[in-house]
Amino acid sequence: MPIKVFVQTYGCQMNLADSEEMFLHLSARGAVRTDNLDQADAVLINTCTVRDHAEHRALSFLGRLCKWKRQNPQRIIIFAGCAAQRMGKALQKRYPYLNIVSGAKEIEHFDQTLDKSGLFSPAATPAAPQAALSAYVTIMRGCNFNCSYCIVPSVRGPVKCLPAQTILQDATRKAQAGAKEITLLGQTVNAYQDGSTTFADLLNRVSEIPGVQRVRFTSPHPIYFTPQFLAAVKDNPKIARHVHLPVQSGSSKVLQEMKRGYTREIFLEKVRALQVAGFEISTDIIVGFPTETEEDFAQTLSLVDQARFTAAYCFKYSPRQGTPAAQLPLHSENVLENRLSILLNKVRGLAEQAYQRQVGTVQSVLMETPRKGRSSSNYWVETGLDFPVGSVVSCKIERAEGTLLFARNEHD
Ligand code: SAH
Ligand code: SF4
Ligand code: F3S
Repeated sequence: MPIKVFVQTYGCQMNLADSEEMFLHLSARGAVRTDNLDQADAVLINTCTVRDHAEHRALSFLGRLCKWKRQNPQRIIIFAGCAAQRMGKALQKRYPYLNIVSGAKEIEHFDQTLDKSGLFSPAATPAAPQAALSAYVTIMRGCNFNCSYCIVPSVRGPVKCLPAQTILQDATRKAQAGAKEITLLGQTVNAYQDGSTTFADLLNRVSEIPGVQRVRFTSPHPIYFTPQFLAAVKDNPKIARHVHLPVQSGSSKVLQEMKRGYTREIFLEKVRALQVAGFEISTDIIVGFPTETEEDFAQTLSLVDQARFTAAYCFKYSPRQGTPAAQLPLHSENVLENRLSILLNKVRGLAEQAYQRQVGTVQSVLMETPRKGRSSSNYWVETGLDFPVGSVVSCKIERAEGTLLFARNEHD
C-alpha cells in the first residue's frame, strides 16, 4: 500500500513550488497524494513566517495534528519551510510528535532528509506527473535585499540563481506534461542572471519551448525594471502583460527606512513605463510601519490614487524577530486597524475599475475551462462560446460585470 500524504502549504507561490518539489521526492519513495486528512498516513506542512499570523496558522494546524497522530502513532508529520527554518530544532522539543523538521534552506537536500529519517522506502524514479495547465518553475532561491521589516533573507538565505539550462529543462518537462502557462518564481525574480543570460533572455527562451503559450513571473523588484528589459520583451506576446510589483509604502521617507532602494517618484516612473508597454500592475502595501506618520500614510493613499493598480494586497506591519525594524517602537493595534481599514476602503474598487477599463479592448485569453480563461493581463474572461482548454483565443471585450469580462460572441 502506498503512503498517502496530505500536503498543506502556507505562504507565497515559491512555497507552493517547493511543496511540489518536496512531494516529488515523497512520490519517488512510493507516496501518493490525498486530500483527506483522516485517510492520510503522512502530513507535509510547508510553512510561512513572513508575518506572525502566517506562522500562527501553521502552528495551530500542527497543534491540531496531535490528536490525529494519537489515533495512529505510525503516522508521519513533516514540518518544512520558512517557519521551520526560523524555529529550528526547538520545534521538536515543543511538539515531540513531529517526525521531520526541514527548514527552507534545506530544500535542496530534502531527499537526503527523507532517507536519513528511515521512515520511507528507497527512492525509485517517480512516474512523471501530469502538469496542470499552469506550472511554477523556480529560477532563484533566497534574497540579497535587506528590507528592514523582512524575515525572508534570514530564512531563505542569499540569492542563488539556478542555471538557465536547468530552468529550461524543468520548464520543458512541465510543458511536455501539459502545462501551457509557466510562472517563473523568485523573491526578486527580475534580478536573475546566469552568466550572460539575463532575466529577459530567460523569459524569451522559456516562451519558445514547444507548447508554452504564456510566461508569467513573480515577484519582481522595481529597481530591476529597466528600459533594456522592456525593449527585450516588447515584441513577445507570450510574456504576460501583468506584473505584481510590491510598493510597500507611498512615502519616500518610509521607503528609505524600509531600505527598499527606490523613492515614490522612481516607483511611479517604473509603473508608468510598464503601463505604457501594456503591463497591468498589482501591488503589496504594508500599513503601520513603526516610523509611518499620518502624513506618510496619506502619501500611500495618494500613491494608490495615482498608480492605477489592478489590485493591492494590504498587510498590517508585523514585527519579525531579528529584523532591524523589530527594534523600533510599534504603533498601537488601534492605529494599525484604522489605517488598514481606510486603505482597504480605497483599494476595494480597484479591480472593478480595472475590469471596466477593458471594455472595448481585444484580449488574448488562455482558456482554463471551455468557456472561461485568463487574459494576458490577468483578467477573467467569459467567452460565450466553447474553445479547447489550453488554447489561446482573441476576444473583443463587450462588457464587464464585477471581476469578469464578457467577450462578444455570435449569439449576442
Ligand atoms: N520579495 C517581494 C515580497 C515578498 S514578501 C518583494 O520584495 O516585493 C510578500 C509581502 O509580504 C511583501 O510584499 C510585504 O508586503 C509583506 N511583508 C513582508 N514582511 C512583512 C512584515 N514584517 N509585516 C507585514 N507585511 C510584510
Ligand atoms: Fe523581503 Fe525585501 Fe527580499 Fe522582498 S526584497 S523578500 S521584501 S527582503
Ligand atoms: Fe512566507 Fe517564506 Fe514565502 S516567509 S512569503 S513562504 S518565502
